[in-house]
Amino acid sequence: PITQQSTGSPSEGIEQFSLVGSSVVTLDDIPIPEVQLLLDKAQYIDEHRKEVANTCNSRVLATLFYEPSTRTRLSFETAMLRLGGKVIGFAGAEQSSATKGETIHDTVKVVSQYADLIAMRHPKEGAALVAAQSSEVPVINAGDGGHMHPTQTLADLSTIQSRLGRVTDLTVGLCGDLTFGRTVHSLISTLCRFGNIRFVLISPNELKTPRYVLDRIDQSPTCSYVEVEDLAQVIGDLDVLYMTRVQKERFFNEDDYLRLRDTYILDEAKMHLAKPSMAVLHPLPRVNEITKQVDDDPRAAYFEQVRRGMLMRMALESSVLGDELPGFKSNKEV
Ligand code: CP
Repeated sequence: PITQQSTGSPSEGIEQFSLVGSSVVTLDDIPIPEVQLLLDKAQYIDEHRKEVANTCNSRVLATLFYEPSTRTRLSFETAMLRLGGKVIGFAGAEQSSATKGETIHDTVKVVSQYADLIAMRHPKEGAALVAAQSSEVPVINAGDGGHMHPTQTLADLSTIQSRLGRVTDLTVGLCGDLTFGRTVHSLISTLCRFGNIRFVLISPNELKTPRYVLDRIDQSPTCSYVEVEDLAQVIGDLDVLYMTRVQKERFFNEDDYLRLRDTYILDEAKMHLAKPSMAVLHPLPRVNEITKQVDDDPRAAYFEQVRRGMLMRMALESSVLGDELPGFKSNKEV
């Protein structure tokens, strides 16, 4: 199976759409009602951990990580273990036959003889699509270069929904490395499909949002954006502040990285300027961009975001495998 194409409209095509057996390269392939269903399933899983513990009994997940990861790999794996399945895989290209010159196509073709589902992270943009087109089982993109990180977006949406009660009609600030931050690109793209979002894009001139992502906002009739450099100037307007790390591994030049890495540091002084209801998100890992003191602020949502990432991956894995959560009824069925 390869990815299903986006219908271009949030609800159009939902009747024909099924996640079962589908690869997920970008959330743009999934109609918004289906994304909402995943959010509902994650909430149900959180409240019914014991009941869902055998949902994916005897299933095997393969995690193929050609790039370092803590959260994404471990949460994909924990998700499958908590659903009763098993996990195989590697956590670094150097542990695989990629070192001998094996292609993604061949690796995925081989692994799909062993596993029911593959989660893959790769430093090259487009690698997940190549894998999805080569695989005999569904492939979930766990991050492809500076392109997309759809399951991080599911974690982000779940956290925004939990903190603010909605994922639409919001002013969302995204701050830091907006050029290479794939989580930013995925999140903007999906929020545009929910609609009614005012994006405040906060970055130095060298790390601005790519044109193809700005085009997504321009194409949405209900979304808009401004680009600014000063966080303190805009923080008071935000419902969500999404901080990001400057992506050292994607810089060509060490000097540029060193010059830009500490451009934004969210500290207690800046938090005093923010709304009492603002939620601070960060996909993590952080380096210096949020001080440790901010962790104690109730508006800091980034560790909740980690937990929600695991729940969303449980919802996604079970949905793609077609394994129904015992007792779950979607709102449509109630
Ligand atoms: N958020 C995220 O992708 O973290 P890892 O790189 O640790 O997986």
